[in-house]
Amino acid sequence: MPLVPMTELFVQARAGGYGVGYLEAWDSYSLEAVLAAAEAEQAPVILGFGCMMASAAWLEAGGIEMLAGLGLPLARRAEVPVALLLNEAHNLEQAKRGLDAGFNAVMVDSSAWEWDRAVREISELVAYAHARGASVEAELGRLPDAVKGGIDDSSAALTDPEQAAEFARRTGIDCLAVSVGNVHLLTAGYAPVDLDHLEAIYRKVGLPLVMHGGTSFPPQAVPRAIAGGVAKFNVGTILKKSFLEALRAQVSSWPEQVNPHEVLGSHKATDLLNAGKKAMAAEVRRLIRLYGGSGRAWR
Ligand code: 13P
Repeated sequence: MPLVPMTELFVQARAGGYGVGYLEAWDSYSLEAVLAAAEAEQAPVILGFGCMMASAAWLEAGGIEMLAGLGLPLARRAEVPVALLLNEAHNLEQAKRGLDAGFNAVMVDSSAWEWDRAVREISELVAYAHARGASVEAELGRLPDAVKGGIDDSSAALTDPEQAAEFARRTGIDCLAVSVGNVHLLTAGYAPVDLDHLEAIYRKVGLPLVMHGGTSFPPQAVPRAIAGGVAKFNVGTILKKSFLEALRAQVSSWPEQVNPHEVLGSHKATDLLNAGKKAMAAEVRRLIRLYGGSGRAWR
């Protein structure tokens, strides 16, 4: 199945009353885990990679093009509808490079930008992306930070509904990431999300909304969030944790001597990274079910 515009995934998700998962990968094994899970669930999914935690120097030195090179062949042979997203590009240039390299959706973390810069640069990105049939996600408002032992909301700001509506009108973005108490990168516990505020944003903006910080999004709040405009849930931390825990367990079960060719890069059952892939795929399947995406793939 060819790549599908992210906007088309949202149209189907809104009509069907479910959310699409963007389950963030970082290499070929983790990307294969997401696709294998989506195919097993017969669910549409957003594949992709994030820039937030990647070295800026590496991204500059061809990292974005390398990620596109990993993602495109896999996305093109997907048996379920997929989009390929470059998430949280640091700036306009990175996002454009992502589009040139083949991502069909980009998100720029514009949450810390001044209003004028955000309107100007995101509008430019939208024109660039739409001319190539690609989609753009932007963010307004600041998420609280995950800190050791909890949440620091001292620099957080909820997305303002009126401002978000004007931003959407002026830039032409396809979807908006919101700040409603959700927290990025929290390793334990759930974020205190304000679903009344989410609904107020959706009433004004009317575009598909995106919930970052999926790891700590309270599972019981998912149905109301979807009814309140969320079309996409972004998840990262819990996936890396599941991958890493499987690696740790595998390594600790090894005998003193192992054959390095068998355990690294063989892509056989003996491959250490396959253990991570398997554990991550199980987690992705759980999340796809939580968002109601199972069995929603179309041909
Ligand atoms: P978590 O790592 O908190 O799940 O958030 C991921 C995310 O929002 C990526 O954009």
